[in-house]
Amino acid sequence: MPAVKIPREKAEKVKKTLKKLKIYDGRRRPKRAEDFIFLPVLDPNKAQRLGLEVVYIDLPLRPERQIYKNLESVLMEKLSPEERKHLRRYDIIGDIAITQIPPELEHRKKEIIEGLLTIHPFLKVVAVKGSHKGAFRIREYSIVWGEKRLETIHRENGVEFKVDLSRVFFNPRMKGERYRLAQLTEDGERVLLMFAGILPYALVIARYKNVEITAVELNKNAIKLGMENIEMNRRRLKGRIELIEGDVFKVVPGLQNFDRVISPTPKGVDALSLALSKAEKWLHYYDFIHENELGRFKERILEKCRKQGKDCEIRVKKVSDYKPHVFKVCADVRML
Ligand SMILES: C[S@@+](CC[C@H](N)C(=O)[O-])C[C@H]1O[C@@H](n2cnc3c(N)ncnc32)[C@H](O)[C@@H]1O
Repeated sequence: MPAVKIPREKAEKVKKTLKKLKIYDGRRRPKRAEDFIFLPVLDPNKAQRLGLEVVYIDLPLRPERQIYKNLESVLMEKLSPEERKHLRRYDIIGDIAITQIPPELEHRKKEIIEGLLTIHPFLKVVAVKGSHKGAFRIREYSIVWGEKRLETIHRENGVEFKVDLSRVFFNPRMKGERYRLAQLTEDGERVLLMFAGILPYALVIARYKNVEITAVELNKNAIKLGMENIEMNRRRLKGRIELIEGDVFKVVPGLQNFDRVISPTPKGVDALSLALSKAEKWLHYYDFIHENELGRFKERILEKCRKQGKDCEIRVKKVSDYKPHVFKVCADVRML
């Protein structure tokens, strides 16, 4: 498949340009080779017209794309091309498959379940997801096959999480984000994790780095699972985690400052000022932003920084699609 061969130091800039021109192939992983990076492109002719060196090289699909493609291919003979267009991405959490069945495929539920079981023979539960509800952001699910439970053990980034999807929030698609933050974090840092949930971020960071993490969460069920998760992973962790039960807005003002603050902010909550006020070196602030509002979002953070007498450098990263034109983003804010 087509890719452009770019010297490492220019890769970020070229990637931005390719994305702007909508010819960057985000479904595939870029590849590093010595001083170069191969960036996947959708339109080699257009890339060539930009003066870039086009090569043909095997770049694997990102795992989530691969997973989706697998379902499409096992259902190749059972579903018509029109029906296959309605197939949605699904997630595997431990031995539970979480899928969506749009109205156009309701009559194909049996085939979709069989397809999932063919690809993942270890599955014990297949559930269809509804929307997130309330302050704890718990999703509604209906179990369509298998055991009547939503509790499981999920493995990711070298740690294990006990999850009960009927009582707590958990998003397996943030695996890459958790790894990214673990790589950015440095040994010896004091880290504050607001809205900690069952501790996926805290555990992945503590797995890789010798840090002191303070985590705050309000949902009692998440606290209970979080405590179990610390125990379950204890021998794997380089860092230490203190988990505080309580409301972030009441607990955090009374805490010390931290080298790094992470806020996987629940949708509709504004914790920016609070998170920023506790960050001495870095803040990673998650929010849901319309693509036309990205500049305004950055401005808002800069304004808050100025108000708090901080000089900041901000990079906003799109983390995942939320709905058309709206993205979950992470603002990486560095205090200068
Ligand atoms: C989007 S989830 C993120 C959870 C976790 N960090 C993760 O990535 O799996 C937000 C979490 O914040 C918790 N929460 C909501 N409001 C809170 C508050 N005022 N104080 C502390 N935790 C809160 C919810 O229970 C939920 O676990």
